Formats: sequence, structure tokens, C-alpha cells
Amino acid sequence: MCGIVGYIGKDNAKDVIIDGLKRLEYRGYDSAGIALIVDSEIFTYKKQGKIRNIEIELRKVPVYSNIGIGHTRWATHGKPDDINAHPHLDCTKKIALVHNGIVENYAELRRELQTKGHTFLSQTDTEVIVHLIEEELKTSPDFFTAFLSAVKRLQGSYAIAVITLHQPDTIFVARKDSPLVIGLGEGENFVASDVPAFLSYTNRVIFLDDFEVATVNSNSVSVFNTDGERVEKKVVTVPWSLSQAEKAGYKHFMLKEINEQPRAVADTISGNLSWFRGESYLEGIDPNSFSRIQIVACGTSYHAGLIAKFYLENFAKVPTEVDYASEYRYREPIVDENTLVISITQSGETADTLAAMRLAREKGAKLLTICNVIGSTATREADTVIYTYAGPEISVASTKAFTTQLTALFLFTLYLSRERRALASDEVDSYLKELLELPSKIEAFLNLEREKEVVKKIALEFYRAKDALYLGRHVNYPIALEGALKLKEISYIHAEGYPAGEMKHGPIALIDENIPVVVVATRGKVLDKIVSNVEEVKARKGRVIAVTNPSVKKIGELAEFLIEVPEVNEYLSPIVNVVPLQLFAYYIADFLGYDVDQPRNLAKSVTVE
Ligand code: M6R
Repeated sequence: MCGIVGYIGKDNAKDVIIDGLKRLEYRGYDSAGIALIVDSEIFTYKKQGKIRNIEIELRKVPVYSNIGIGHTRWATHGKPDDINAHPHLDCTKKIALVHNGIVENYAELRRELQTKGHTFLSQTDTEVIVHLIEEELKTSPDFFTAFLSAVKRLQGSYAIAVITLHQPDTIFVARKDSPLVIGLGEGENFVASDVPAFLSYTNRVIFLDDFEVATVNSNSVSVFNTDGERVEKKVVTVPWSLSQAEKAGYKHFMLKEINEQPRAVADTISGNLSWFRGESYLEGIDPNSFSRIQIVACGTSYHAGLIAKFYLENFAKVPTEVDYASEYRYREPIVDENTLVISITQSGETADTLAAMRLAREKGAKLLTICNVIGSTATREADTVIYTYAGPEISVASTKAFTTQLTALFLFTLYLSRERRALASDEVDSYLKELLELPSKIEAFLNLEREKEVVKKIALEFYRAKDALYLGRHVNYPIALEGALKLKEISYIHAEGYPAGEMKHGPIALIDENIPVVVVATRGKVLDKIVSNVEEVKARKGRVIAVTNPSVKKIGELAEFLIEVPEVNEYLSPIVNVVPLQLFAYYIADFLGYDVDQPRNLAKSVTVE
């Protein structure tokens, strides 16, 4: 939530920062702004709306500077307007600051600073930080000491970047519970909320930890704890390329990311196969050391968790619970040292998921995270990480992260089943073989122009619908939830996912001749049951769109529209079945003319509670 970019070096900071902000726009797009040091003054420009608003204006302004900071905002405190946009300045206009997070004690700090004569222009929590630094500077020997003192007084979460006329060759940064990374270049350095911001310049990165601050100059970076003591940091090379963070000819990132799924799933399999060759094991977690699993996650990642429950209980025979991370943290879960808690998170920065992990840790659980972002907070706090190799996911609507999470969870289940002797090794090999064939099955569907045209045609038929119902059963019930979530978040059409067998207990009342009912009806143990549910929908004149396999004949007679996907093992079928539902939501949102990659009110990483 909110994106920060800072640059110091040989190029024009304005251009580097705008470029970086555009790459971070998925983190928030309510307003954007930039601050540069130009001719011993701080030049700022900020505006409500998208980055292109400031870009157009700034292109006309002939400012040159080799140091600056920028921000793209997802509003928390104060409405999204020009005044509340970051950067914020102190009273002397010698300090400019951008912030991501929430300062929980901002009201009391604001009152205190007001009594000392500070005037506030915005309604944001952020503005108190810059005034606090100004105030601390009055009694500090240098700017760094003032910065440290101010940071120590903040409660809540923050990633902060500051430039100042008091020390115009340095960017000051600090972090607690909001991501901040430093990119290392040659004679130039970068700070950002996320690596794609500077991926066109460098992939050598320092990940700042909580309660760390840093000074960033063009030729050096120094990291300290909040007592001002030096901290040695590891430089990590992130294996992402710039092309992965660009649209590559696609109209939207979402469409590109849907199409990347065969490669992403294949990479996730090969990136994690070493366990099966006995080359390495899940470090930090003994597969026989726990008797139950709890999964915590949010949004799409939660849906992956619901499917993982089927995997873990059916194959590995480990009792598994799945919770929304935001609920888990407040429900007094029963956790002990015999519990393995698995967090699933694309970004590794979701505040609720991190809080659930910390709670589980306090109660003695071992932590495993399934994560896509190297060096993210979740990966640093868990005992063990299983990476998904989706590459950067830019579109707010998650697609390839989901299918790679399921792939990683299936692999983990096979590993666990083998180690706990819940499956014989030939059974593990046989499931593995089916998993290895999965990328080509997804690719087969995505390469079929005819099927994609079918999805598009159905989207054209229904893009004016007001509501939609998604039905599935067993492992494909969470796919109904995920299909509905995709439609809601990018097309703003109300959609509900439901277990098809539950329909008769309430939602069947919704069905009439106007509502599209998307049914996932591929081969598996509940196919006959779901066919009966489709009959019930038909009997009430519902318009059925079925995702099915070519060999399933009985659905053909009932559904008005058929989307045919390749047949795979039923436990792997969610990974294939979700793809047409992603495309369906995509085409509808595109027909409606919405901003597919940056839907209203949303942000890619939800770093506030
Ligand atoms: O980064 P995370 O996986 O922790 O994010 C969780 C959710 O915020 C995320 O899946 C969200 O629901 C997506 N917008 C769904 O498309």
C-alpha cells in the first residue's frame, strides 16, 4: 500500500523516480508526488490521481536534480486530494518526506507539535513525521540524530524516505512493518517499496529489516539500528528481469500474467524439485514434528489455502485448518509446538498475514511460508520458505501467483506424504508425473484460440450483468470463490462463490433468467452431484456457463455455454479450471472499459491492517 521511490546518482532523479513510481503504481493510485533538491531549494510537485497526471506536468518543467523522492498513495488518513498527497514538508521547507504505513500515535504527536508552533497543512498521519524531525533537529547535533530520535517516537508501521537541505547528498530511510528495499547501482543508489521500481537499473538489493534506518548516498549505503549502531547487511541478487515487469505487448499486465502461467507453474515445479531428488530438504522444519497444520492467508492466497486443505488431509493425512489471517489473529486459535502454521502470501508483506504468523510464533508454532517475493518480510520471519517462481506479479488481481501457490502446495504435500509415509513412493512418483504434465495442459488451453474466443463471447453476453453466481464442489469449490473474487475486484459486478450443494439452502432464491451461473463441472468424484445442481439451476431458468472437460457429455445438454478445459487429475484440476475464470473476469472488465490492472479502492500489497 503506497509506493515509495528514491534516487541519488548521476541521472536526472525526476525521470528515474517517475519511471519507478509507474512501476509501483499497483501499490496505490489515489495520488502521486515527487520532491527534488534543485538549486538549494526543495522542489515538490504532487497531484491527486494517477502518476500520469504528474508525469505530464513534470515533463514540461525543466528541473534537474540528482537526488529526490517520490510517492504513489493509497489513502488511509485524509481523502485522496492534492494536499494530502505526499511528499510532505516541514515548516522551514527544508525537509521533504514520503511514508508508507500508519502512524498510530499521530494524533497525540500532532497536538504536541501544534503546541510548539507547527502548522499542519494536510489531514494525513504522515505530516507529523516531517514536523517531528524538524522539532528534533532543534536539539540534535546533526540531521541523522534528529531523524533517529523522530523515528523512535513513532508507533505503528512505516517505511519512510527523506531528503533535506541540511544534508543534500543523502536520502534517509527507515522501516518498521512496511517494506523498504535499497537498490545498489554504480555511482547511484535507489530506495523503493519494491524491487520492480529500479529493476531496469539494478537487481542487487539490500532488504531493510524492522527498526533499521539507512543513509543512502550515490556511492555508499550505511545501515543502522535505531540506536545508531552500524548493522552489516547481506546484498541479495534478485533473479527477476526487467521484461518480467513489463507488459511485453499485452494490453494489460493481468492478461500477460494469465498467459505466463504455464511458464510460472513449470518454474515453480523445477525450482522446488530438489526435495524429491534428495538434494536438499526443507530446512528448519522436520516433516514428522507436527500433528496439525493451520493455514493463514488473505484474498486469493486464502483460496489457495482452502484447496491445500484438501491436499494435506487427503494425501498427507494431516488435520488442517484454514483461516483468513485477519480472523485468525483475533480468534484465540489453539496453537502449540506440534502445530505447523503455513502462511501463503504473494507479496510477503500483507499486514494481516504477518500478524497471524507472529501470533503463531509466540504460541510456539513452526512457520512455513509460501511466498513469491524474495527477501520479503514473510520469508525473513518464517522458519522455512517455499518460493513460488511466478516472477513479479504487477496486476492487482492475482492470477499466476495463485496457480503457482497451488503448485507449491501440491509439491509440499507430496513431500510430506512421502516423508510421513502417508503415500507409497510409487504413488508420489505417479502424482509428480501428473504435476509435471500440468504446464502443458494449461498451455494447451491458452493456445486454443477457439476456447478463448468462447470465453470472450460469453463475457460479451454478460458484461452488463448486475450479479453472478459461481458454483463448485470439493476441490473446485474454492475455485468458485476465486472466480467470483476476480469478477468483483476488476469489473465491480457483485458475484458470489458458493458450494453447489449449499445452493438449495439459500442462494437458489437468487436464480432467475438474468443471472449468469458459472459452474465448475470437470471430472472428479462429485461430478454427478454437480450435474444435479446444474439441473436445479436450469429448472429455475438460470443461465448456466459450465467449465468442463470435452469428455463430460451430460453437462453439454444442460449448460447454455460451455468452456472446455483439458482433463487432469481432479486434485490438480483447480489449477487448470481457474484459468478460464480469470479470462472471463478480464474480458468483462475490459469490455466495461475499467482499469483492469488497477481497480478502484484496491492496492496490490495490503500493508495496513
Ligand atoms: O500478497 P498476498 O498474497 O498476501 O495478498 C493477499 C490478497 O491481498 C490478494 O490475494 C488479493 O486478494 C488480490 N487482489 C486478489 O486478486
